[in-house]
Amino acid sequence: MPDRQDHATAPIRLRDYTPPAWRVESIELSFELGIDTTEVAARLHLRGDASRPLRLDGEGLELLAIALDEQPLDAGAWRYADGVLEVDGARDGSVLSTRVRIHPAANTALEGLYLSGSREAGFLLTQCEAEGFRHITFFPDRPDVLTRYTVTLQAERARFPVLLAGGNPDGAGELPDGRHWARFVDPHPKPCYLFALVAGRLEKIQRDYRTADGRDVKLVIWAEADVIDSCHYAMDALERAMRWDEQAYGRNYDLSVFHVVATHDFNMGAMENKGLNIFNAKYLLADPDTTTDDEYKAVEAVVAHEYFHNWSGNRVTCRDWFQLSLKEGLTVFREQQFSADMNSAALKRIEDVALLRRAQFPEDAGPLAHPVRPAEYHEINNFYTATVYEKGSELVRMLAGRLGQKGFRRGMDRYFERNDGRAATIEDFLAALGDANDLDLMPYLAWYGQAGTPRLRARGHFDAGARRYTLTLSQHAQAAAGQPEKPPLPIPVKLALFDRDGRMLALRIDDRTLGNETVVVLDRAEQTFAFDEIERSPVPSLLRGFSAPVILECDSAPADLALLLTHDPDGFNRWEAGQQLAALAFDDCRHGGRTALQAWCNALAQLFADCALDPALLADLLTPPGEVELAEREQEVDPAQIHALRQQLQKQLAETIGVLALAQRLAALDVAGPLQLDAVAKAQRRLKRRVLELLALADAPTAQARADAQYRRAQGMTDRLAALSVLVRSEAASAADALADFRRRHADNPLALDKWFAVQAQLPGERALERVRSLESDPAFTLKNPNRARALLGTFASSNPSGFHRADGAGYRLLAERLVALDALNPQIAARLATAFNGWQRLEPVRRDAARHVLSALAETPGLSRNLAEIVAGMLKS
Ligand code: BES
Ligand code: ZN
Repeated sequence: MPDRQDHATAPIRLRDYTPPAWRVESIELSFELGIDTTEVAARLHLRGDASRPLRLDGEGLELLAIALDEQPLDAGAWRYADGVLEVDGARDGSVLSTRVRIHPAANTALEGLYLSGSREAGFLLTQCEAEGFRHITFFPDRPDVLTRYTVTLQAERARFPVLLAGGNPDGAGELPDGRHWARFVDPHPKPCYLFALVAGRLEKIQRDYRTADGRDVKLVIWAEADVIDSCHYAMDALERAMRWDEQAYGRNYDLSVFHVVATHDFNMGAMENKGLNIFNAKYLLADPDTTTDDEYKAVEAVVAHEYFHNWSGNRVTCRDWFQLSLKEGLTVFREQQFSADMNSAALKRIEDVALLRRAQFPEDAGPLAHPVRPAEYHEINNFYTATVYEKGSELVRMLAGRLGQKGFRRGMDRYFERNDGRAATIEDFLAALGDANDLDLMPYLAWYGQAGTPRLRARGHFDAGARRYTLTLSQHAQAAAGQPEKPPLPIPVKLALFDRDGRMLALRIDDRTLGNETVVVLDRAEQTFAFDEIERSPVPSLLRGFSAPVILECDSAPADLALLLTHDPDGFNRWEAGQQLAALAFDDCRHGGRTALQAWCNALAQLFADCALDPALLADLLTPPGEVELAEREQEVDPAQIHALRQQLQKQLAETIGVLALAQRLAALDVAGPLQLDAVAKAQRRLKRRVLELLALADAPTAQARADAQYRRAQGMTDRLAALSVLVRSEAASAADALADFRRRHADNPLALDKWFAVQAQLPGERALERVRSLESDPAFTLKNPNRARALLGTFASSNPSGFHRADGAGYRLLAERLVALDALNPQIAARLATAFNGWQRLEPVRRDAARHVLSALAETPGLSRNLAEIVAGMLKS
């Protein structure tokens, strides 16, 4: 049972960390697996101090037997209450044996041991991060206890033909009564959150791999029979990731097998269990007919991310959960580097910065704001956030930039070498990177300890007489609860200067020639940088590559931004200038201004005609900041108005480019023939989608006719879904038929059906709510499956601002009701969906009152999980 709390409890605090009194050198675990009941026997080889109490975590375990050093314990020698088992009489070297009973099929929270799929056909699996292992057996469930695992699984062969656990296989055989067993030994000590097992009817694909250091490894991907053929792309991605980690970081795989398993029932994206990664099917299966181009990329990225954890997370793990970004931020960064190498670096950077702005900046500006290394938490599962992941990755990127490619590699080698087999801290990370380069990187620790997105202000001044351009940079921390004093941060600002013809200028500071791009580090409240031998007032390009996770405040003239948008040689910086200009153009739409609006539209119309431009980059350049990002710039947010203005902005763009030009480009991009999955074909589809969307704003009938045709002829999911989405959002007469067709066509594919739900949950405006309600009664809808609940309710609440934020508060009431129902089944998913309320305090008064009312009532609901209670209470804090 999930933890229910009716009263506030004390938080866990970073500053209270103490090393464990007891360690577990090795564990022998054996499972008698069954769907309804499973019995778990554990033998813990203890090391510790007999004068300190031995306390083990355990949640909802039925204790069947307990013995210390082979002697059954009297009832007086142990106590089990409130999730803790206390045992008397242990000494250094003791062996504690327990036997417990657990109930996988009744586990709807999907943490610990649970059933995926149906009782008849499904399989058993585990999810232990962060604190799921305590739902399986008694153990010190904290990441700084590293243990060697020997795991024996026993089950009925017919029902559970496949038995898997992390580590190397160490025997298997038959047992009486149609049962069988299999054993796995993991030679690498690991924290219990990396433990995993899988048992059931699964098919496999496999491949032999030899590591750079000469180890033969079997790579095996497991999935249910109906989807095993969709695992080949993931296998290729895995091999690419393994090779890349060898080349980029010198990291080799370290077991004789690497198992990967797909499940449709998973709270997260995927999990890096040692030697036995488990994936949400959404991030493993890929098939041309049902997977979009973006999803192919996501599969590659997530497979790589989990694989990279084998070093950044598993070999070097975290001392405590406050250090979570040590593994997650670092691994996100490694994945970003990998994806940049495999695909287009500029497009990857655009995607990641857009994600940071859409997900992390709002989090950092709202009531749930927290540092990359939080100071306290109630429920650790609530801290797997965009801040810990995405901002954490940006911090690693700043460090990597500071050290340069070779220096960073040297630092990472030092980090892995020094901390291998250990549970480390953020300080250990900074120390290793610094020591390997004779640098003190500790000033960067301040980035890890403060919440809020810093603002970077830039003012330029050109002195024609002195031929000098002076740039004044200053930093301004946002006030955040409990953090009044914020010291200045080191902020690396990569910059270039352009002349009025769009050429980069040579940079000279203090008689040093620096090429035409350089990094200055602002590490005080304000600093001035002077560039000499500049003949005419230049156009500055600041924060190139998004060199620090800050909000840049710089009143560039629209014409200057347009110049960068059309001339910058770097794709990312072009996009960035375009985003800034689009935001000004958005303001023009509201106030009837023209300067920025025209500059943006004209620059893009010019680029649209340039056939040499990468179509995927063009597609991104043609996309203004999203509604969530635009809302961040407002004092008082009216999501309906933001939606309308953004539509108007795009319509203006479409009309400037011209209906004819759009239609012609669309036709040119519409290649006949079988589906191609190469980069060029994907880039063309990306642009095709964007052009179709723009056309829908300028000439709906033409666009709908094209979308109809595209839907019918589509060779793959990218084109099919793009067409469907345009039909649904523009409320075309044919939308209903297309939806019915999609539904029939993909009735047996849950991942495709999720898209069917999600595309409708994005219907803009007031009509969304009734659509969501009617979809809730669809026989395929269920709150029990996280992907399905997210596809409908998560999309509606988090990706459809004009639909969710109805002025009458009906969107809020619907979400709150579902959260209560969901919380009883799966607290992690309920808590995550509840973050859709973030930002409610800045809504215009009518919506704000409605949201406050709903949140206050929700907070008072008796029996909320610790997960949901923490999020709702946090939302109401001011
Ligand atoms: N370790 C996490 C999975 C996890 C998160 C388990 C929270 C338990 C609680 C895994 O490595 C991860 O980060 N997964 C991401 C996907 C990744 C590509 C960013 C996820 O699940 O969202
Ligand atoms: Zn991760």
